[in-house]
Amino acid sequence: MTNLHAHGEVPVTDGELVAEASAQVAGAVSLDALAVVEGELLGRKSPLAARQKTLGALDPDARREAGQELQAVRGQIEALVAARRAVLEETAYAERLAADRLDLTEVLEGDPPWRGHLHLVQRTRDELEDVFAGMGFAVAEGPEVETDWYNFEALNMPPAHPARGMWDTLYLNLGEPETVVLRTHTSPVQIRLMQSQAPPVYAVMPGRCYRRDTPDARHIPTFNQIEGLVVDRGISFADLAGTIETFTTAYFGAGIHSRLRPSYFPFTEPSAEYEITCTICGGAGCRTCSHTGWIELGGCGMVDPAVFAAVGLDDETWSGFAFGFGIDRCAQMRHEIPDMRVLLENDVRLLRQI
Ligand code: DAH
Repeated sequence: MTNLHAHGEVPVTDGELVAEASAQVAGAVSLDALAVVEGELLGRKSPLAARQKTLGALDPDARREAGQELQAVRGQIEALVAARRAVLEETAYAERLAADRLDLTEVLEGDPPWRGHLHLVQRTRDELEDVFAGMGFAVAEGPEVETDWYNFEALNMPPAHPARGMWDTLYLNLGEPETVVLRTHTSPVQIRLMQSQAPPVYAVMPGRCYRRDTPDARHIPTFNQIEGLVVDRGISFADLAGTIETFTTAYFGAGIHSRLRPSYFPFTEPSAEYEITCTICGGAGCRTCSHTGWIELGGCGMVDPAVFAAVGLDDETWSGFAFGFGIDRCAQMRHEIPDMRVLLENDVRLLRQI
């Protein structure tokens, strides 16, 4: 190896410099200590920097050669530091893991020990699926990240359609701006289903949805819906009303009924709001139902011809109905939960009860 210091003041060879650096790096037992050593070896006051300064006095050819050698030495020292840092970081991580370990055995208190159970929302979803399966419906699912086309356009909401304002959409930074969304409802699964299977369709589609909502007692920004879709020959609004009423009494009990009130959704015509007898007061009127005796669960209606057109189905041959309502809202109504936010908080004192 060349002695760089034939012309300079610092009397060490490359080899000595790297060996010395290697010993110092190995001696650093913590990330902080390594940072100090790194400064000493590579910083402005290091022997390396001192040598760098001597380069100016050399003639151009010698300077280039000496400069390259110096760079090589710097590279070797940097590699030593990086390797040591990786080792120390791993050790620090392992130590942190050991220190942060949570003792979860606490939840096994009790005799017999409490082993936990499915979350209320999951149980509600399972029960809803069971009721609809009993009525002859299949269960289908779709993605939570959707394109604008599935979430809006195919559902008869072209770009800039004012009805889009009914949903406070969360867009993802993917592709062209505002083309990929966290689905605001389960309705896009209707479209996927009609694309993937020929009628007749009798299906429910449960799943998580997202809206840019401020949480309050009856709204959470991450929530669950169950969508329903029937497509067959000769389906009428009476079929829709009958299905909704059958479901309501089957799920909530004999004293609870449904009513449909005229409403608007772009993907159904006519459209209705789906309400059930308030479970808190049994229909007599109370604060929860604003003294109406009814609680809104979701929306429904007859599939709009524009939706059939989007998936290439002939609306002369086929007719159908659809509905969509909140699973969390169902759980809230059936279990009389005053504030929906508790469903997301995972407070173990609550989870034990529900
Ligand atoms: N997607 C609607 C919402 O989230 C609910 C809905 C209304 C679903 C009418 C439907 C329907 O299938 O026909 O507000």
